[in-house]
Amino acid sequence: MTDIELVRAAIAARENAYAPYSHFAVGAALLCADGTVYGGCNIENAAYSPGNCAERTAIFRAMFDGHRDFAAIAVVGGPEGEPISELCAPCGVCRQVMREFCDPATFRILMGISEDSFIEATLAELLPHGFGPQNLGK
Ligand code: THU
Repeated sequence: MTDIELVRAAIAARENAYAPYSHFAVGAALLCADGTVYGGCNIENAAYSPGNCAERTAIFRAMFDGHRDFAAIAVVGGPEGEPISELCAPCGVCRQVMREFCDPATFRILMGISEDSFIEATLAELLPHGFGPQNLGK
């Protein structure tokens, strides 16, 4: 799975977004260490706070299937029904969820506009001085 393919998978996952309140559709594609890829989309809710981001949808799907080692995630987002025109960076809650399960030094986050246009950062770059399982002796 190349980075380009992972961004392409995130763009495809965005098609499944359920965003009737924000009308902001997000897709994510999580690459597990064994090469398995999980798509995720944002799933909103009439009560607002139960909504889930695309990144966490992908991570929780993978966790349920028993995956524990993750290499990278691609994220794309923008107003639904329109081509993506700006980068979409993971929210703070998603960064913290990644911190629970991913190595900050090596886990890569790809933020894309298209499969030909994306940037990458490590989790450590997006969540410096993070609080994680090690702080509780895990
Ligand atoms: N959202 C994501 O799914 N991922 C992000 O990285 C940023 C925000 C969703 C949450 C909500 O459904 C919508 O985008 C607007 O905030």
